[in-house]
Amino acid sequence: MNKFFYFTGSGNSLYIAKQIAEKIGDFEIIKVTSKLDFNKSIECDILGFIFPIYSWGMPVVFKEFVKQIQINKADYVFVITNYAGNCGSALRSFQKEMIKKNIEINAFGEVVMPSNYLVMGNAHPKEEAAQIIQKAKPIIDDYAQNIYDRKPVPMKKVKFAGKFLSAIVYPLFARNVKKTDKSFFFSDNCNGCGICVKVCPVENIILNENKQPIWQHHCEQCHACIHWCPQRAIEFSKKTQQKNRYTHPEIKMSELY
Ligand SMILES: Cc1cc2nc3c(=O)[nH]c(=O)nc-3n(C[C@H](O)[C@H](O)[C@H](O)COP(=O)(O)O)c2cc1C
Ligand code: SF4
Ligand code: SF4
Repeated sequence: MNKFFYFTGSGNSLYIAKQIAEKIGDFEIIKVTSKLDFNKSIECDILGFIFPIYSWGMPVVFKEFVKQIQINKADYVFVITNYAGNCGSALRSFQKEMIKKNIEINAFGEVVMPSNYLVMGNAHPKEEAAQIIQKAKPIIDDYAQNIYDRKPVPMKKVKFAGKFLSAIVYPLFARNVKKTDKSFFFSDNCNGCGICVKVCPVENIILNENKQPIWQHHCEQCHACIHWCPQRAIEFSKKTQQKNRYTHPEIKMSELY
């Protein structure tokens, strides 16, 4: 059995996990959420990790998961990250966690995917996102073939700017991320459907007695709530009102919960 662990907000990482899993076969795709048992020990043939870049590093809950898991048996290990522009030294940071467990990583991958980041930038509009996904497909296929053949794929060299951003900006992000949800609010468009509650990977949203979302201050900033809300009712301070919403076109909302 092959096991692939992923984290996602808007579906890009799940899409990559599924593409690779379909090529490899005999798989279990597991979403990293706060409900997952981080202390469970893993035994499998091919073990894979797929995660998006947040602030030039790993999503905080994903990093916590990687630190805590025990790997009893894995014949071949790969990690693939995806991002919109620059992944910094996140793969190196992932590798350091594996070295602590005496686990060798056989293949490292990185794929440029559409941006879902709204706070300081914007998500790609539909047509641009579709082009980026088209470009990514052969890259993902190549990784899948290498993994299928159990070939080694080395980590790409990280440029100075990426190293700097990972070393300086990521720790600030990681320290403050949980409470950043204080800037989320909902508009009159909210109809109380509860989808934001379901798609949140860390149970950070509850609905009050009036069926209004309340954020619980252990946020990961994955942006799932804001992008998947069918009413476009969620905003983040004054930074998102005029901005795009993005979810991977081949991922269904129901696949996230
Ligand atoms: C909070 C946050 C921070 C991000 N930081 C970066 C970054 O530092 N570099 C980058 O290239 N993309 C960054 N992105 C973009 C995502 O990594 C990218 O869109 C990714 O493909 C999303 O994957 P997902 O759909 O699986 O969530 C960021 C996105 C979010 C939500
Ligand atoms: S998903 Fe949107 S409409 Fe539904 S409860 Fe959440 S904020 Fe309201
Ligand atoms: S509250 Fe929204 S941004 Fe924060 S972790 Fe949950 S879904 Fe992601």
